[in-house]
Amino acid sequence: MTEFNQFYPCVVPLIGSRYEGKSNFMPAAWQTGLSKAPMTYCVSIAPKRYTHSLIKSSGVFSVNFIDFKYLKLLVRLGSASGRDVDKIKDSGIELKQSVKLDVPVFKYSYAAYECSVQETIKAGDHDLFIGSIIYIHETDEIRNGSGTIDYHVVKPILYLGKDTYAAMDPSSVITIKRDR
Ligand SMILES: Cc1cc2nc3c(=O)[nH]c(=O)nc-3n(C[C@H](O)[C@H](O)[C@H](O)COP(=O)(O)O)c2cc1C
Repeated sequence: MTEFNQFYPCVVPLIGSRYEGKSNFMPAAWQTGLSKAPMTYCVSIAPKRYTHSLIKSSGVFSVNFIDFKYLKLLVRLGSASGRDVDKIKDSGIELKQSVKLDVPVFKYSYAAYECSVQETIKAGDHDLFIGSIIYIHETDEIRNGSGTIDYHVVKPILYLGKDTYAAMDPSSVITIKRDR
């Protein structure tokens, strides 16, 4: 069988969802930014996930970017379904107040988006939820002088496929200006 992991590494945020008082998080490696104006973000979620049914019902979701130190939590959230267990309670996850939408926001994310679903597109065995970013949370002091994230301060979780992860080595970061 041909492997389908040539495109890794991917950053893995936690996708937060909530409907009728039930809140949940799951990790999703298949996600990306799509547009700057309006700011648009897309996440690819299999219909069998509990998260899928919550987002489908509520029309909103959060994208929570977390540091490598939360890797074990991420694996736990990706190993069980919110359909069977209250993962937020079980893992003792602390939330912070969302600002614009009724979505769970992980208190210790270094950045998080509150998104409102604009369109849902079927993509094989997954559905793409395309969301407008309505609000961006970001912790102080994660940026360097040039405005990029300082990877000495935060270490995104990179997924390599097959339950394998890496942290970014900040000494590998390089900026090369484009010719205009
Ligand atoms: C590193 C990692 C990345 C994942 N990426 C995705 C993804 O992009 N889309 C998806 O549908 N499931 C993905 N999963 C699987 C779900 O996170 C997992 O099935 C989770 O338990 C679903 O939880 P839920 O049923 O509470 O929504 C991923 C799991 C892991 C560990």
